[in-house]
Amino acid sequence: MSKKILLSGVKPTGRPHIGNYFGAMKQFVDLQDEYECYIFIADLHALTTLHDPKELASNVIDVATDYLAIGLDPEKVILFKQSDVPEVTELSWIFNTLTTMPYLERAHAYKDAMAKGREVNVGTFDYPILMAADILIQDADMVPVGQDQKQHVEYARDTAEKFNRTYGKIFKLPEVLIEKNVAVVPGTDGEKMSKSHDNTIPLFADPDKIQKIVMSIVTDSVSDIPKNVYAIHRLFKDEKSLTALYEENRGKYKILKEALFNDIVDFVSPLGARRAELAAKPEKLLEVLKIGGSKARERAARKMESVRKLVGLSIYS
Ligand code: ADP
Ligand code: TRP
Repeated sequence: MSKKILLSGVKPTGRPHIGNYFGAMKQFVDLQDEYECYIFIADLHALTTLHDPKELASNVIDVATDYLAIGLDPEKVILFKQSDVPEVTELSWIFNTLTTMPYLERAHAYKDAMAKGREVNVGTFDYPILMAADILIQDADMVPVGQDQKQHVEYARDTAEKFNRTYGKIFKLPEVLIEKNVAVVPGTDGEKMSKSHDNTIPLFADPDKIQKIVMSIVTDSVSDIPKNVYAIHRLFKDEKSLTALYEENRGKYKILKEALFNDIVDFVSPLGARRAELAAKPEKLLEVLKIGGSKARERAARKMESVRKLVGLSIYS
């Protein structure tokens, strides 16, 4: 029996933190044996907010390097850059002609941007439709995403249904996959770890930097257990040894923070070393992306041929 198809995109913005790792990145690595995986770097989506060409290009390379460093295996996973499959923009145009304005006006991301008084570009408004094209063009069965992207996968399902009703059944209805066990990883202040809260512990940083950050964790304590330190420590140590450690060192915040620092470093050092190796051979990385891009494009191009026929755009054959 052939494997189900899993597809997901990652926007190339900013450096990853341990919240991103445990909340999202690691999932792809965990699922790579079970599914036929298509993971791409959403550079076309990034254009809705990023207009610095150098920054965009280097972010794409950074993200690809990060994912290979954490264990995504290019022999198992098709890793590619969204813009290497230009067919998605053609498909999203066709979807646009089936999509109404009020329907897109209900999208959370668009509503939030409007509520903040931002000037919203057409790309941001149409973001869910490009995402629907990404998903549907590859016949994805499963789309693992964070809670914030759930509505977008529902938009992809609705769009598939609309197209299928209008022109004939050609698109699969994708399922959203939200990892239930992933709790929100707290940051150094106890709030959700997030780039926008400035409370992150980076996944790739040298030990000095990590030490400074760990030592700065806010130590609100409950019966002499520093709860923010503990909450982060849980990700790196099993429950039993963690309980023993915190029992033994009640009230000794410095010792507990040092223990956390050591456990983080033990965990991230091998990832960082692998990242450095990959970054030293950029031509290899580009080759991985190129090969991934051509495989993904081949599939997409086949699907587009059928779409064009159904829509009435193919007149020569
Ligand atoms: P940030 O909030 O730092 O900007 P993003 O919004 O770019 O992070 O999130 C990228 C992915 O990482 C998403 O799938 C999101 O659900 C996940 N993620 C981000 N922060 C956390 C966190 N603190 N705990 C668990 N998952 C997270
Ligand atoms: N919008 C997603 C995010 O911001 C990235 C993305 C683009 C995506 N296309 C996708 C995710 C298709 C899953 C499937 O995280």
